Amino acid sequence: MASDFENPMYWRKRFRSETAFEWLTPSSTFIDLLAPYLDRLDPQASEILHLGSGTSDLHNHLRRSGFLNVTNIDYEPLALERGQQLERKAFGDVKTRYRVADVTKLEPPAEPKCRLVVDKSTADAVSCGGDEAVAAMAERIHGCLDKKSGVWISMSYSDSRFGVGRVRELFHVGVVSTVPIPKRLESDPDIAHWCYELSPKEA
Ligand SMILES: C[S@@+](CC[C@H](N)C(=O)[O-])C[C@H]1O[C@@H](n2cnc3c(N)ncnc32)[C@H](O)[C@@H]1O
Repeated sequence: MASDFENPMYWRKRFRSETAFEWLTPSSTFIDLLAPYLDRLDPQASEILHLGSGTSDLHNHLRRSGFLNVTNIDYEPLALERGQQLERKAFGDVKTRYRVADVTKLEPPAEPKCRLVVDKSTADAVSCGGDEAVAAMAERIHGCLDKKSGVWISMSYSDSRFGVGRVRELFHVGVVSTVPIPKRLESDPDIAHWCYELSPKEA
């Protein structure tokens, strides 16, 4: 990834013209991977944190699945404006929440703690700021999650996104699935995106 991806100014400039874009995988694919985790939640009660929402329509897929208690978080206000536009276009109104915040500085919510945190390529963008930035993101997410039943699901292009020592201290890291990238030529190498499950260890 270009090292600019950890820089808010890069995203601000990009979102001036970008109104809808999906990183790595369409949300229709990601929502299928999330289905077993959504099945465990009460759609009315459980808050879902969608980190680095960008101009993705993942929140619309969550809403279609009955989840309105979704908080879309991005540090670039224009991304949240785009998210609201996408939601209004799909449903005629805006019911999910939008919050400007840096995921490396997230404040833990008041009880009850969150049971599902999702990100699609946001940890990848954060990783351009180095291992400390990924560790800070992991620490903040750990603080937000219910330690018994909470989980962070992260889609990444990297097969070693969560090798960082501090992340391993805080989370049990597993791979939910790999999503192969379609080849243009038969001779192209096998490349996949990685969907991780991170379950918080007790602090
Ligand atoms: C690679 S894009 C992914 C966007 C979207 N999740 C998708 O799948 O299309 C990364 C997103 O994370 C946001 N982002 C990057 N670093 C962030 C940080 N430290 N705090 C909050 N948002 C961040 C960017 O503004 C951008 O919207």
